[in-house]
Amino acid sequence: MTVQDAIKKRRTFAIISHPDAGKTTITEQLLYFGGEIREAGTVKGKKTGTFAKSDWMDIEKQRGISVTSSVMQFDYAGKRVNILDTPGHEDFSEDTYRTLMAVDAAVMVVDSAKGIEAQTKKLFEVVKHRNIPVFTFINKLDRDGREPLDLLEELEEVLGIASYPMNWPIGMGKSFAGLYDLHHQRLELYKGDRRFAELAEGKELFADNPFYEQVLEDVELLEEAGNAFSEEAVLTGDLTPVFFGSALTNFGVQTFLDTFLDYAPEPHSHKTTEERAVSPYDETFSGFVFKIQANMDPRHRDRIAFVRIVSGEFEPGMAVKLTRTGKTLKLANVTQFMAESRESVGRAVAGDIIGVYDTGTYQVGDTLTAGKQTFAFEPLPTFTPELFMKVTAKNVMKQKSFHKGIEQLVQEGAIQLYTNYQTGEYMLGAVGQLQFEVFKHRMENEYKAEVVMTPMGKKTVRWLKPEDLDERMSSSRNILAKDRFEQPVFLFENDFALGWFADKYPDVVLEEKMS
Ligand code: G4P
Repeated sequence: MTVQDAIKKRRTFAIISHPDAGKTTITEQLLYFGGEIREAGTVKGKKTGTFAKSDWMDIEKQRGISVTSSVMQFDYAGKRVNILDTPGHEDFSEDTYRTLMAVDAAVMVVDSAKGIEAQTKKLFEVVKHRNIPVFTFINKLDRDGREPLDLLEELEEVLGIASYPMNWPIGMGKSFAGLYDLHHQRLELYKGDRRFAELAEGKELFADNPFYEQVLEDVELLEEAGNAFSEEAVLTGDLTPVFFGSALTNFGVQTFLDTFLDYAPEPHSHKTTEERAVSPYDETFSGFVFKIQANMDPRHRDRIAFVRIVSGEFEPGMAVKLTRTGKTLKLANVTQFMAESRESVGRAVAGDIIGVYDTGTYQVGDTLTAGKQTFAFEPLPTFTPELFMKVTAKNVMKQKSFHKGIEQLVQEGAIQLYTNYQTGEYMLGAVGQLQFEVFKHRMENEYKAEVVMTPMGKKTVRWLKPEDLDERMSSSRNILAKDRFEQPVFLFENDFALGWFADKYPDVVLEEKMS
């Protein structure tokens, strides 16, 4: 197969959801269809407790699992599928957001009883910013949930995205009987021996189902007053195709996968800092680091840098240039994510992810290029932290390793650092609790610097222009600080404190993001 043909087959996406919506369950079903696992329910071994989500240190001990489950690759229906994990919960971190920079599409899993939840909304906003396609799977139809029309309305109101139902549930919970598949114009049956039926058979098949008449009315309404399906609008992220189903009972998941793969885009081109678009079909290899996972092996200080290949093909041992330092490196020790038994092992092309062993060479956002040209991809966005901790060295004699550790971890993008303007104290900012735990663990293990961390809780961060800086503006409800680029920033106690400040100093421009 030519490189071009191989690239055309790639489909790289992330599943975004609030914890417990069913992301793991769906992922397992997808891997099962891809023949990667024999039985759904084996990826995380949740039942046996070998991979408790909340326990990062346990995850640490099982690095093998944690690396492979960061990227899951399988072949299905002539496509090579890469699923990138976006951990939720305690695992939530800037990595979660940055992973979304490395995908070409997102699948949003929603619990039908809960609707759009906080984490889904946050992740969706990052995805929306990139204008990539979002496919929605409304899960747990085997349980009683909210009215489907309600859920669609919520998508539009809370997320501001138009939706198109690809199928429509017939009943729910105990009376769940199947799906009216608008897209394929057929019925998908929940029970019995047949999986599909003609639309015309519906009246007979669902004669006893009190919801079927309602479904026909809903479908008519959707066809008349709902959004029209438009592949173009799907590809620009303006319309989300919505699928209903039940991951636990493996219903509707395969239809979802088949249809998703019909519409999910092939690898995107990526822009450089000079606004040039690098096409996946450019012959020369290029890629960027979107995530660094620490301490793959406890005996060494190494990590894995996850690289999204933007163009060309990776070849083991190839020489690439790291744009930031200008140095040439050999990509010798690289992990790929295809099961060993597969044919064409070792082939990684644009759209794929490779894991490069790193002993401190790489930083998140780094560009790698082969060939003669040098360029950098657009920097990855930084995300405004919400949680803060004060941090000091436990042992005053270890100041040197303390500073070195902080400097390197901040540079790597593992955590954000702020310095109190008045006292000079260090404060760490993160988007999720896990980032602090990882920081502490790595400081102790990699830099032999024990730290004392004092929670400061949530803060609302706002940057201000250096010329507006006036220390007298600082009060008991905010902390004036400098970010790691020495830019002045206020950490407000809450939104109320921010509002109060904005009223008092209407001329001071406060920015949500570092400009
Ligand atoms: P997550 O990765 O998004 O956090 O969710 P996960 O798949 O772990 O699912 C969360 C819970 O919801 C699990 O139950 C799972 O079995 C259940 N679930 C997922 N999909 C469906 C569905 O379609 N219908 C129903 N009824 N339940 C579903 P749990 O009891 O929390 O975990 P477990 O003990 O079963 O592993």
